[in-house]
Amino acid sequence: MARIIGGIGTTHVPSIGKAIADKKHDDPYWKPFFSGFDYVHGWLARERPDAMVIFYNDHGLNFFLDKLPTFAVGAAPEYRNEDEGWGIPVSRAVAGDPDFSWHLIDTLVADEFDITMCQEMLVDHAVTIPMALMWPGERWPVKIVPIEINTVQHPLPSLGRCLALGRSVGRAIESYARDLKVLVVGTGGLSHQLDGERAGFINKEFDQLCMDRLVAEPEALTRYAIREFIELAGAQGVEFLNWMAMRGALTGSVAQLHRNYHIPISNTAAATVVLENRPRAELRAA
Ligand SMILES: [Fe+2]
Repeated sequence: MARIIGGIGTTHVPSIGKAIADKKHDDPYWKPFFSGFDYVHGWLARERPDAMVIFYNDHGLNFFLDKLPTFAVGAAPEYRNEDEGWGIPVSRAVAGDPDFSWHLIDTLVADEFDITMCQEMLVDHAVTIPMALMWPGERWPVKIVPIEINTVQHPLPSLGRCLALGRSVGRAIESYARDLKVLVVGTGGLSHQLDGERAGFINKEFDQLCMDRLVAEPEALTRYAIREFIELAGAQGVEFLNWMAMRGALTGSVAQLHRNYHIPISNTAAATVVLENRPRAELRAA
């Protein structure tokens, strides 16, 4: 049976892609951010996941404001990237796993999530930059199921709905018959606002609160309505919805193994967390 090894939350700011291409890892501006991935590299090398479910928001590469699903699940054998601008190179394609995708889709629909199914899907920097950060080498060792959450066009889904989406995905992973070690990732955030009167807004205290609550009591975060969350985290800080879904998919006992928080990367509070997921059955047997 498939098993969930844990979750990673990470920022996906486009300028990271340019910094990787320009090899700025040791540049004083970038080093505090990139060094936060040293732990991630060691953990992934030990855990060796085979598959990854990644919650992210599309920024206009595959979906645009004219047609923007609240939740969309990829079911393609391969996910390509294209030129998004910002000077970031076009990424290599990411391998998909259609059979695993359809199992997740079946479970989500049975759980009454009315998702959009995508047998062709471009993935943007919100998928490719986290991949490049987690596996900086020549080869990406996982096949992915990308799950898009609308954090762009209002009305947005609630934090509680995204947590429930993640829980359904977690149940789906654990009921999948193949012996896969599955990593779950949520990308985006943390606090930032790119436009309007509050452009440049960052809220360190609220970011810390969100990361603390995410580990042990994610339900406590569902008390924030979307408008309230945007007031506290910024208009684009609401990308934290992807982190909520990631946390929801961790079905076992969850512990934080690693956290890095750095201000700023571009106009964004950059954060990386690694959460361990210990299956409850394993804990009972111990
Ligand atoms: Fe974003």
